Amino acid sequence: MTLDEATLARHSARRFLDKPVPKDILQRALNLATHAPSNSNIQPWRLYILSGPAADRLKKALIVEASSDAVPEIPPLPNAYKHFRSELGKEVYGEGLGIPRDDAEGRRAAVLRNYDFFGAPMAAIVCMDSTLSRVDAMTVGMYLQTLLLALTEEGVGSCVEVSVAGYPGVIRKTVGIPQETDIICGIAIGYEDESMKVNQLRSTRISVDESTVIIEE
Ligand SMILES: Cc1cc2nc3c(=O)[nH]c(=O)nc-3n(C[C@H](O)[C@H](O)[C@H](O)COP(=O)(O)O)c2cc1C
Repeated sequence: MTLDEATLARHSARRFLDKPVPKDILQRALNLATHAPSNSNIQPWRLYILSGPAADRLKKALIVEASSDAVPEIPPLPNAYKHFRSELGKEVYGEGLGIPRDDAEGRRAAVLRNYDFFGAPMAAIVCMDSTLSRVDAMTVGMYLQTLLLALTEEGVGSCVEVSVAGYPGVIRKTVGIPQETDIICGIAIGYEDESMKVNQLRSTRISVDESTVIIEE
């Protein structure tokens, strides 16, 4: 794959096949991602990658927590950005999964699939030392995009998930992550179920003009 091809092929997969990802494929992608740049070359990304019974334990614990009254610890989206989420919700839950807007129970069940990592055989937890700053979190993001592109090149699907980080206590306890390590997000990793409509969606983008000012004089 060229860089263009991998960049355009990568997308968030939200239904996976029950098919394990071979260790050597994961290892190659992880090795490539380590070439991401970082401030003073500190390489702050720290990952826990669970599969088999370990992944099952984490999924189960998260689903129990997310099904309870516990409020997820996720900062609210500022109002100016909320329309993006509602558009995405229409796409994913409406168009992709065919759940009517007024089917509250159906939507709730679909949202819960976040905590099952959408059925992916691998559940990754992305972390960083809590003494580092937001520029280092940006570095973790650069690493992650490289990892996702490397997985795409290997034919492996993924979905970054901030939702799971809403329950850091459960993740910490189940996975054994020390208190001084920040939990940033999760990633579902596996072979996507291409027959599912939700995986055939491609999210829209704002134009470059809306995000970028080019100043020449
Ligand atoms: C930091 C981050 C957190 C995300 N959290 C979730 C999530 O919790 N659940 C989910 O279904 N998708 C999640 N996504 C996927 C985004 O919805 C997706 O990247 C965006 O809509 C663009 O679509 P694409 O990845 O298919 O190009 C997340 C993506 C990022 C980068």
